Amino acid sequence: MSYNLLKGKRGIIFGALDENSIAWKTAEKVHEQGGTFVLTNAPVAMRMGAIKELAEKTGSEIIPADATKVEDLENLVEKAQEVLGGKLDFVLHSIGMSVNVRKGKHYTDQNYDWTAKGWDVSAVSFHKTMKVLYEKDAMNEWGSIVALTYMAAQRVFPDYNDMADNKAYLESIARSFGYFFGTDKKVRVNTISQSPTPTTAGQGVKGFDGFIKYADEMSPLGNASADDCADYTLTLFSDLTKKVTLQNLFHDGGFSNMGVSAKVMERFMEE
Ligand SMILES: NC(=O)c1ccc[n+]([C@@H]2O[C@H](COP(=O)([O-])OP(=O)(O)OC[C@H]3O[C@@H](n4cnc5c(N)ncnc54)[C@H](O)[C@@H]3O)[C@@H](O)[C@H]2O)c1
Repeated sequence: MSYNLLKGKRGIIFGALDENSIAWKTAEKVHEQGGTFVLTNAPVAMRMGAIKELAEKTGSEIIPADATKVEDLENLVEKAQEVLGGKLDFVLHSIGMSVNVRKGKHYTDQNYDWTAKGWDVSAVSFHKTMKVLYEKDAMNEWGSIVALTYMAAQRVFPDYNDMADNKAYLESIARSFGYFFGTDKKVRVNTISQSPTPTTAGQGVKGFDGFIKYADEMSPLGNASADDCADYTLTLFSDLTKKVTLQNLFHDGGFSNMGVSAKVMERFMEE
């Protein structure tokens, strides 16, 4: 349903790979709420092509950028303002990748070149994005920057591998940079800690199918879907959450505050 919640607002959405991507759902919903935006992804993801369909559907332009390359980000931020006709109100960082996970390297036996690459893509890219937005003074006052994260930043999920460390770093960047963005520019910076979600990035994690069921049965409201996450992100981009900043916001059906649920207990009860 459209409340025109984002009417007149402009932004950049990183990370729409295919129709399962959280960023894809968010782009559709931002469009529905009257927001305009530029879509971006790494040039390699672009060659797979699906993003063009989303661009047509939402009347958006695509500007490729590898989020680990500051010069790509500079070009993106400059061009996005030209295309959209002014400064930005919202930015979604929806990027994650671990080479160790991809190549099946165990956490206790990392290839540190891969560790560094995953850290750069999944965490430092958020700092680089904000550095460019900050230096170019590209955000309007009361704008909103959101990155997506996962609870493995706080608690142990063994198969999440080095992505757990990357997410902890990402959340810390949100707070540290968020201080300066708030003080100097009146811009808020938050992370959304989302339920396990069946996307390309999600399914790369070993044992994902079992884990997603477990999380669903543990959560009083069940897992939050990619669509639910997109809805929550809209609220953070809207003017209704102007004083929310430096937060890591759990969007997980209640999972993060659970100890055990009756459904999960049942599996362990003796007859
Ligand atoms: N799926 C889950 O279970 C889950 C749970 C919590 C948080 N998240 C987070 O949500 C975000 C979005 O992931 P998703 O689940 O929608 O999966 P996805 O695979 O659809 O999206 C990940 C995106 O990162 C992009 N990317 C990779 N390297 C890049 C680079 N160098 N430059 C620019 N973009 C790059 C990919 O092209 C892709 O579009 C990620 O931060 C992920 O960690 C996912």
